[in-house]
Amino acid sequence: MSFRAAPLSVPSDRDKETLFTPEIRAEIDRHIAKYPVEWKQSAVMPALTLVQEYNGGWLSRELMDDVAAYLDMPQVSVYEVATFYGMYDLEPTAPNKVCVCNSVSCMLCGSEDLISHVEKKYGVKPGETTSDGRFTFKEVECLGACRHAPAVLVGKTYHESLSARKLDELIEGLE
Ligand code: FES
Repeated sequence: MSFRAAPLSVPSDRDKETLFTPEIRAEIDRHIAKYPVEWKQSAVMPALTLVQEYNGGWLSRELMDDVAAYLDMPQVSVYEVATFYGMYDLEPTAPNKVCVCNSVSCMLCGSEDLISHVEKKYGVKPGETTSDGRFTFKEVECLGACRHAPAVLVGKTYHESLSARKLDELIEGLE
C-alpha cells in the first residue's frame, strides 16, 4: 500500500466563499444520519468526497479543517484520511481524472502497459495533469473490479477489461 505525502495547500479565497452551502450541509447531514449520534465522524469519507467534488476535484487545507469542525473531530484525523486514500487530491487537478488501477490483479492483466501507454501518448506521468488540462492521470490502488482487470476509473465511471485502444477512446471522449 502506498502513502501519499503531498504537501497541504494554502487555502484560497474561493474556498472561504463557497464552502458549506446549505446543499452541501444537507448532503453531509444525510450521511451523518446513517450513524449513531456520537459517531458522526464516521461520515468523514463521504463528507470529504462531497466537498472535493464541490471544490472542482481537490481538497485544500481549509476545506479539510471545515470538515473536521463540522464533524467534531481533530483536524489531524481528517488529514490522515485525506492523505491515506488515493481518491482524495490535495493539489488542484483537471476536472477529469483518469485513474488506472495498478494493484496485483490489474498489474498481472496489463495495467502497467496501460500506464506506459498514457505516459507516452499523452506526455503525463501518474500524479500529473496533461499540458492542455484535459485530464489528471493517477495510478491507484484496487478499484474493487479485479475480476475484470485491468480496471480504470474515469470520472465517476468504472471501466473494466480495458485495452489501450479503449482507453484512448475514453480519453478522447473527455470534454
Ligand atoms: S486489482 Fe485492480 S481492480 Fe482490483
